[in-house]
Amino acid sequence: MRQFSDQLGLGFDFSPTAVTVDNVMAPTGYTGLSAFHKYWGKKPIECLGYLIEKLTTDNDVVLDPFVGSGLIARECAIRNRRFIGIDINPVSIELARMVTDLPSTKQYADALQSMEQTVRSAIDESYLLHDGVTASHYLWDNDTLKEIWIARKGKGGREVRTPLAHDYDLSATYKEYKSLLIRPIQLFQNSRINTSPALTLSDIFTGRALRNIDLLLESIPEVPENLRRALLLTLTASIGQMSSMVFAITGRGKNKGEESAKIEVGSWVIGYWRPPLHFEINVWNCFQRRATKLLKALSEIEEPRTFPVADTVHEVISGAAPVALLNQNSLSALQDIPDDSVALVLTDPPHSDRIPYLELSELWNAILGKEVSFADEIVVSNARERGKTKLQYNEQITLILDEIDRVLVPGGTLALLFNAKDAESWNSLVQSKARASLQYYGCFPMSYSANSIVQDSREGAMKSDYVLIYRKTGNRLNGRGLEKFVHTIPGWTAEFPKLKEKRDAILV
Ligand SMILES: C[S@@+](CC[C@H](N)C(=O)[O-])C[C@H]1O[C@@H](n2cnc3c(N)ncnc32)[C@H](O)[C@@H]1O
Repeated sequence: MRQFSDQLGLGFDFSPTAVTVDNVMAPTGYTGLSAFHKYWGKKPIECLGYLIEKLTTDNDVVLDPFVGSGLIARECAIRNRRFIGIDINPVSIELARMVTDLPSTKQYADALQSMEQTVRSAIDESYLLHDGVTASHYLWDNDTLKEIWIARKGKGGREVRTPLAHDYDLSATYKEYKSLLIRPIQLFQNSRINTSPALTLSDIFTGRALRNIDLLLESIPEVPENLRRALLLTLTASIGQMSSMVFAITGRGKNKGEESAKIEVGSWVIGYWRPPLHFEINVWNCFQRRATKLLKALSEIEEPRTFPVADTVHEVISGAAPVALLNQNSLSALQDIPDDSVALVLTDPPHSDRIPYLELSELWNAILGKEVSFADEIVVSNARERGKTKLQYNEQITLILDEIDRVLVPGGTLALLFNAKDAESWNSLVQSKARASLQYYGCFPMSYSANSIVQDSREGAMKSDYVLIYRKTGNRLNGRGLEKFVHTIPGWTAEFPKLKEKRDAILV
């Protein structure tokens, strides 16, 4: 059996001050720590690093009231900027805590080894074939088992078996299993992400998967909090592949007239879709695959990997701690930040109706045992029970902009990452032009890496996110000055982005 410690990769060349405008225009994609978790709406790390470097100096305070994947916290800390991060989503703040308080590679590898020794054989037993071999994948068509795969160690590839009565019997043993350790999930009627209030864990996972996830949770050893967090987040990062939502890719090459009979493993797509033809994958293998990614990322991290993290903004403002992370509603948390105290607000608020973060994170938060406040989320939702309208969204974004205006130092900058497909949402940002001191300065399109799938392909959607730059009036003594660099950014314009559809062409 390959041990975790054998799987480390080498070759890390990250330098926190090396971001150039070319990196921003052609981001490399998600690697290392930023590849570990599929938090929704993750932005290219190069863009964040570049703006932090260009718009602040040492010890300045940076604020992000919508932290998301949490990666920005580390980007600030390694550059010696103080950072205040807020997000309503518990998993987001856990991720931010993880990247600012990373366990050592050895600690993480040891904990994984301990978990492997404790549960792997019990998990593998639930996938045993009649001859004692362990299955890696079951291909189901509704309730019919089509194929069983055994991953070939070392060589890649697989052995494909025809299912036997034994395999149905084994699966049936766990059929009624209900998780003892994951809290029940709460969802709403929403056809866009295929959810209803009646949806339960048992609709999304087989009983066998739930039993094995419980075993994994139980096997997390008594370890320091930061290590436990990394292990739990590893489980959340692999939960999609453990579910019955992993579709089978068939008919590759159809368009070129050479359709392949080969079936490949897909992944969990956005929402709660349970395709008739889907995979049930060995839970240990899913966990191990994710863990190996984090292990590699940890082995590549340059020191320091840990920064003191405070629970209140005051510790950051007073200089007592470099980072504060708050799992709160931004609208209330922002009120604790003093006037004229933040040099840069770098943020990416929810983009109207693009991503219902809390619904899509519900499995992750259930694993973490965290309750969420759907009522306070800023979002436009087509789940009627949520009562989240465009009007409400615009009002909340306007209030957020007012607060940002208040907390920025004179001459401070707001860099707002945005994309929405409706004019009203953009208009809530335009109105800030009228705000007394926060003035729109210009924008540039933000590139994604070529293989990124985060783009919005719906009708009327823009092909790129925008970085909108606003400036608070007044002179900032230690600021670097926007005019020095923004004009060098390809695509920079002093105009407001325009939507491509005629009916929305009023935006200027
Ligand atoms: C576009 S994402 C941020 C993505 C982030 N920039 C990144 O690169 O990963 C927007 C975030 O806003 C959060 N959010 C929504 N309503 C909120 C509220 N009322 N207070 C704080 N955060 C909220 C969501 O949980 C989500 O993480």
